[in-house]
Amino acid sequence: MNLKDYIRVIPDFPEAGISFKDITTLLQNGAGYKKAIDELKELVAHLKIDVIAGPEARGFVVGAPLAYALGVGFIPIRKKGKLPYETIEAGYNLEYGNDSLAMHTDAIQKGQNVLIADDLLATGGTISTSVNLVRQLGGNIVGAAFLIELTHLNGREKLTDVEVLTLLSYES
Ligand code: PRP
Ligand code: MG
Repeated sequence: MNLKDYIRVIPDFPEAGISFKDITTLLQNGAGYKKAIDELKELVAHLKIDVIAGPEARGFVVGAPLAYALGVGFIPIRKKGKLPYETIEAGYNLEYGNDSLAMHTDAIQKGQNVLIADDLLATGGTISTSVNLVRQLGGNIVGAAFLIELTHLNGREKLTDVEVLTLLSYES
């Protein structure tokens, strides 16, 4: 079975013109979820990774099992106001709306090789912000891995100095 068969596409959600890629149908299927994480593990096998960082919320369901599979740590990049210790924060725009992301100031050790993981690359706002936060903390970004890329939104253009790895792509 192809991974795309597990992903449900919802037209006009959350607003008219957006074709939403719903991964809940993938996550609820044990074989599908395992296949997705196993394939991501293969996709990043050539990278030297010390730790994975993933943005809330869907970056957790991709990044955390991938970190476990690789035997490395996982760092949550959280939406503003959720982390209890000292943080750095950065605002960003999304395909729909805007938000702020935060990381603990001691989340990364200087020079650590960090893979960013998320479910989906759309405009690239979330991941370029995540990359900037990790670099501010002294991390070395070795790549960014996604289940899905929406190619028409050109997110890769915001990530020119990052190796972008995606399992599935959609053109709309
Ligand atoms: C979605 C998705 C990615 C991001 C991609 O997250 O999970 O993180 O949008 O869009 P971009 O490339 O244009 O930044 P969202 O902010 O909707 O929140 P969630 O993960 O908490 O559902
Ligand atoms: Mg997200």
